[in-house]
Amino acid sequence: MLVTGGAGFIGSHTCVELIEAGHDVIVVDDLSTGHAQALDRVAEIAGAAPVLEVADITDAAAMDTIFGRHRIDAVIHFAARKAVGESTEIPLDYFHTNVGGTATLLAAARRAGVHRIVFSSSCSIYGATGADDLDETAPTAPANPYAWSKLACEQMIEQACRHHDDLRAISLRYFNPIGAHPSGLLGEDPHGTPRNIVPYLAQVAAGKRGRVQVFGGDYPTPDGSAIRDYVHVVDIARGHVTALEHVDDQHGMQLHNLGTGQGTSVLELRTAFAAAAERDIPFTVTDRRPGDVPRLVANTDVVRLAWGWTPKYDLAIMCRDSWRFQQLNPDGYRR
Ligand code: NAD
Ligand code: WQD
Repeated sequence: MLVTGGAGFIGSHTCVELIEAGHDVIVVDDLSTGHAQALDRVAEIAGAAPVLEVADITDAAAMDTIFGRHRIDAVIHFAARKAVGESTEIPLDYFHTNVGGTATLLAAARRAGVHRIVFSSSCSIYGATGADDLDETAPTAPANPYAWSKLACEQMIEQACRHHDDLRAISLRYFNPIGAHPSGLLGEDPHGTPRNIVPYLAQVAAGKRGRVQVFGGDYPTPDGSAIRDYVHVVDIARGHVTALEHVDDQHGMQLHNLGTGQGTSVLELRTAFAAAAERDIPFTVTDRRPGDVPRLVANTDVVRLAWGWTPKYDLAIMCRDSWRFQQLNPDGYRR
């Protein structure tokens, strides 16, 4: 099994589930946002270490070497740049890594005779479509270059499946993955100032930052703050093991949302995190963040019915596990 981006947040949690399910795992990662230490932690939890190949997925020769060196039957493709704000500053870099990297990886996989791929897509491709609950047929409306790059990858994979009969692919549209491994060994360790809400809340609760800014108090939601579908990263990781069991089920690209179907506002999330951390989390309501939408909540009927995948963990557990990782790793993976 080749896992690109396996040293990152979702990739490392998925490595644990894969190894525990009996897969041999090779990770390709350039460590630009991931951490080699995360793979040591994977070994500590799962009892076997993934093999790490430090390489850039846009490097075709390196990809050929890696496919040649290992026996690989499928690819789970996480490696990407994912910061929405940064994507508006350097859009072409985002297309280079996310779209170019996916094309390079798929071509190398084909040359090596590997025909199964599971791709990391994102709820951000729905954008502000206004639908109350988003199923996989909802119209897409990406609002930034990052989201466009993910939609472009889906279209590329879908077209490749149409014209290569032997290709089997699944695109998983994650909603907002948060939480951490319950062991406290693996979690989200962003380089620099966190851009996502949960690592920020964790650092405020830990006293590393003064207060959290709640971006927007005038959304058309019950408490005025924006609503998202937060889903435990271990549930997302489990979704990949399930996806592998179903990748041969049908021709063409399968498309599934991975979320809980439960909407939570930023203010509700702050309250839940404060309860998990047993302390107050000071906040200020500020202007909306450019590019944000009022509400993104998954309809997950299709994946529940097709695969029986359902999330196991609720918001309180997501907050408990994120907080545990923060407490046990105050400086992230730099012990
Ligand atoms: P992450 O930044 O923690 O992980 C990405 C990993 O890919 C990192 O380890 C990084 O070093 C590696 N990488 C980046 N560019 C690379 C390249 N050119 N070559 C090799 N490796 C490279 O992010 P994550 O949250 O774990 O996200 C994983 C995937 O899930 C991404 O594709 C992301 O777009 C997607 N996704 C994430 C979220 C989320 O909120 N975290 C939501 C939806 C989709
Ligand atoms: C969540 C909510 C913010 C920080 C992003 C990507 C999406 C997917 C998941 C990759 C929003 C608010 C945030 C803060 C805040 N990733 N917020 N104060 O923007 O929903 O989704 O990650 O695919 O594509 O867009 O996640 O964690 O940044 O924000 O009030 O300091 O928290 O406005 O409503 P987002 P997030």
